[in-house]
Amino acid sequence: MSDRTRHFLHSSEMPTKWYNIAADMPNMAQPPLHPGTGEPVGPDALAPLFPMALIEQEVSSEQWIDIPAEVLDIYSMWRPTPLHRAKRLEAVLNTPAKIYYKYEGVSPAGSHKPNTAVPQAYFNKQAGINKIATETGAGQWGSAMAFAANIFGLEALVYMVKVSFTQKPYRKSMIETWGANVIASPSTTTEAGKKILEADPDSTGSLGIAISEAVEIAATSKDTNYALGSVLNHVLLHQSIIGLEAEKQMENAGDYPDVVIGCCGGGSNFAGISNVFVRNKINGKNSKIVAVEPASCPTLTKGIYAYDFGDTAQTTPLLASHTLGHDFVPPGIHAGGLRYHAVASQTSQLLNDGIIDAMAYKQIECFEAAVTFARSEGIIPAPESSHAICHAIREALEAKEEGKEKTILFNLSGHGHFDMGAYDSYFAGNLVDDSMDKEGINRALSAIEGLPKPPGYTGKAASL
Ligand SMILES: Cc1ncc(COP(=O)(O)O)c(C=O)c1O
Repeated sequence: MSDRTRHFLHSSEMPTKWYNIAADMPNMAQPPLHPGTGEPVGPDALAPLFPMALIEQEVSSEQWIDIPAEVLDIYSMWRPTPLHRAKRLEAVLNTPAKIYYKYEGVSPAGSHKPNTAVPQAYFNKQAGINKIATETGAGQWGSAMAFAANIFGLEALVYMVKVSFTQKPYRKSMIETWGANVIASPSTTTEAGKKILEADPDSTGSLGIAISEAVEIAATSKDTNYALGSVLNHVLLHQSIIGLEAEKQMENAGDYPDVVIGCCGGGSNFAGISNVFVRNKINGKNSKIVAVEPASCPTLTKGIYAYDFGDTAQTTPLLASHTLGHDFVPPGIHAGGLRYHAVASQTSQLLNDGIIDAMAYKQIECFEAAVTFARSEGIIPAPESSHAICHAIREALEAKEEGKEKTILFNLSGHGHFDMGAYDSYFAGNLVDDSMDKEGINRALSAIEGLPKPPGYTGKAASL
């Protein structure tokens, strides 16, 4: 084996600007709408929740946006992250394909999430905000936000989806170690949480419910802002650093990806690894770009492209997105960070325009892929990231069948050190495979009934 299994960049080569896909999309993502008026929301409507600097990024169509020096300084604690050539996995699969992965699990919180938590904390601090309210699914985002808030001396309050609160107790401990408070959602600390609990005292929660709780706290307190770990344009922007580094590292390795893969919850790590390659594709350089999601929460593959609320209590602006309905409570699968009913508007638009593809896999197949990966490459992946691995393996085996060379790049968005309970369940044969049927789609359709419809609305699931 050659020693070129890892491709590093020097810290002086770290990108100093984020890349904004809005500048290059052939069709802009539809703007968020005010649920009352049906009109696009202006910056003023977002001001109770976000600092103006982030709102400006949200609506910007500038191609490049400077990363502040303070943020670069904190990024340099773990960035640039390594690009690995998965030679041992290639050998196990006996494939002619070359497999590369960008490893974001080296961050202090163990995933890509600090790439946006740090600038979000920074811009809030600059705006004189003292406290951040946020939600978390599996706890990766909550721990990243707790880490970033602590660096800038902000308080953080994290609503953690109840099923993960129980499944992943050490994520909760991490959040507390960095000095933030964590509450299982739904809770009795908000009107939104109380309402859910009245209707269903045993609710295991969802990201949509936890968002309602965090937004309510931020909207009703002057010194508190809200932070979201995915979906919004400014979050995708911050994550572009992953792909910008990967592009340079692939170039240093003398390769260019035929296939770029990311797992997809709200879309941020997928956009992070892929948007720079999307730009190259728009400019004529061809790659297949694949977002991978769970079959039990199949937003892109089976959701309806429509305007929908980002949260269960219907408090957020309406976002144009492939959606399973804002009241969707996905099964308690172990890839907690992929259990969100909608996806980023930009990612949805790129799918509508045929620039990216989407695939869905069941969780047992994903754990099989994760274990194959751990036993060849050593790193134990987060259950979310295993979806990307699962598709990378499918591509590599196809290359073998076809006897073709192929260069595959995927994002390993995080490690699974706090997800070992999920691995235990897999080894014990206790995992259940859920997938979505027609009934689920009908429910999604009723959730969006009466809401404005975006151009391109068909009223049909993307595929079923
Ligand atoms: C490790 C990891 N990967 C992926 C995701 C999915 O989020 P996104 O689609 O925004 O990257 C999460 C979300 O919590 C995560 O923790």
